[in-house]
Amino acid sequence: MTAEGIGTRFVGRERELDELTALLERAAGGRGRLVLVGGEPGIGKSRLASELSQIATERGASVLWGRGWEDAGAPPYWPWVQALRAYIRSTPPGEVRRYLGVGATDIAQMMPELRDLIPDLAAAPDGMSESARFRLFDSTTTLLRNASQTRPILIVLDDLQSADAPSILLLRFLATQLDDMAVMVLGTYRDVELTPVHPLTLTIDRIGHEPGTRLMALTGLAANDVAEYIGRPDRTVHDPFVTAVWRATNGNPLFIGEAVRLLSSDGQLARAEDPHALRVVVPPGVRAVIRRRIGQLDPATIDALTLAAVIGPEFGLDVLRRVADLDREVIQISIEEAVQVGLLLVVPGSSGRYRFSHDLVRETLYDEVAPERRRRIHRQIAGVLEARYLGSESGHLAELAFHFVQAVEPSFNETSDPDHQEIVQKAIDYARRAGDEAARSIAYEEAIRLYAMCLAVLDVSGDPDPRLRADVLLARGDVESYIDLDAARASLGEAAEIAKRIGDGAAVHDRDLGGAVRVLDRELELVALLLQGAVHDRAAQLEAVIRLLRERLGRQKLARARGEAHDDQGGRQQHGRRQCDDQADLALARGVHGPSLCQRWLG
Ligand SMILES: Nc1ncnc2c1ncn2[C@@H]1O[C@H](COP(=O)(O)OP(=O)(O)OP(=O)(O)O)[C@@H](O)[C@H]1O
Ligand SMILES: [Mg+2]
Repeated sequence: MTAEGIGTRFVGRERELDELTALLERAAGGRGRLVLVGGEPGIGKSRLASELSQIATERGASVLWGRGWEDAGAPPYWPWVQALRAYIRSTPPGEVRRYLGVGATDIAQMMPELRDLIPDLAAAPDGMSESARFRLFDSTTTLLRNASQTRPILIVLDDLQSADAPSILLLRFLATQLDDMAVMVLGTYRDVELTPVHPLTLTIDRIGHEPGTRLMALTGLAANDVAEYIGRPDRTVHDPFVTAVWRATNGNPLFIGEAVRLLSSDGQLARAEDPHALRVVVPPGVRAVIRRRIGQLDPATIDALTLAAVIGPEFGLDVLRRVADLDREVIQISIEEAVQVGLLLVVPGSSGRYRFSHDLVRETLYDEVAPERRRRIHRQIAGVLEARYLGSESGHLAELAFHFVQAVEPSFNETSDPDHQEIVQKAIDYARRAGDEAARSIAYEEAIRLYAMCLAVLDVSGDPDPRLRADVLLARGDVESYIDLDAARASLGEAAEIAKRIGDGAAVHDRDLGGAVRVLDRELELVALLLQGAVHDRAAQLEAVIRLLRERLGRQKLARARGEAHDDQGGRQQHGRRQCDDQADLALARGVHGPSLCQRWLG
């Protein structure tokens, strides 16, 4: 037996695939669903999604993939941007334009590249606001609704545990509309990585048990599937080798694949008839197996892969080359070796771009790098990327911010490096700009995260310029005022404190602080207005306001807006009302402090 062919043939999962296929059929008939597939790393979520994608393609559906990629600085709404990009690339421009309709302006806030497709696109009406976000979600839904009338659509959002919060909110919004759309959405996530406050956890709590959502938990393969997987279909559970592998791996296909490959390369597969020997060689964790497999590569390949792992889940050969400062050919050979042993994959349709075959591979490599070296590499990468994106940083700001921030020493005073100041400055600057960009894309939670990153760097830098801190706090407070008034008050209050403090000193810049005072005033006014309502029970207050919102918007704004947009689709009254419910539900579930929302909508 050899390790060849392991993992190439899909085994087991008949029940899951049957159910998914039935849901796909149902979606093709105009009754879409959201399916969320959870499970531990390597259990086969992405693979199951790929199998379904293949079936969907064969049956004439459009398949649009997007992947979560939060840590390494992807732009806001990244999974959606990828999925929509896939749609735009595979559809004649005229058709895209027609389906986008008036919503193009809204979607362009999330995907600025739409402006290339539609050069005369009007500017976004009013940038940030709660209604702008609603319009973005609504327009995206309308685009998919329109597009799915030509061909059913399967959207796969892989690795939702690392998607940004705004992307999850968009998913939630769409989920409530799928019932009369020819669109199926399949999301995958590592359940073990969801914290109680993760936006996906909140989403699952809220809509997981509704009829429009199917939660599917993947567990290990059965013993007979394992037998088939490792090429011993005839010997099944009575085969001690199969039993040993099955036990040691809990049927996790990634683990099985890695373990068998490792055994094969150790030359132990021939001896593996003895299950006792096998038990000794199968290490207790996936990471350990991967680590050992990586350890068998050429040292130059390990070096190149390590650098690539610091760049991110996906990387371009050109950047790697520059970071590694290595001979073209050496890098090329290393990358080829990694592709050959299945640790890297070529990104389809790209030139010179690669992806780790599995995120665990990247994580394992990354974790092996000592913190000090990691910072140095991030710094190098930051420099290379900065030069590369010069003049076209927008769209890459989060990535630049990520690498510069990772390059910052945790304790500023302990470094004697004179250039470090520049790194810190750039980390602050890019994080700030990335935050502004996210805010413009109406990715509020993402903007808040990036501003927080900026503030954290200001913390370690000893905060040389309090005005800058106040400024970032103002920006953050402004964004927060749309979704979380308490947080906004805290940020703006802190900014006001700084204003007061440096106001006592010599160098007061009235102009800078004027903004702080104005925003603070505005928010305080809002708070005062709400407090005048003197409703004791916050939940009751929220309920009341939401009810108002539903009634009023149901009858007026949205019904009208939807009616106009869907004049030719009929049934608009009902549609309009559902939109309002969704919007209100969205606000509730998000813990949006309804007042901010309602004030803006009802005012
Ligand atoms: N049913 C299956 N038959 C054959 N191979 C499989 C099966 N399920 C998964 N695999 C293989 O196992 C490996 C891990 O699977 P996959 O990447 O789908 O895991 P995952 O659950 O998406 O993990 P992660 O959470 O880390 O993304 C892949 O090489 C995949 O091809
Ligand atoms: Mg996966």
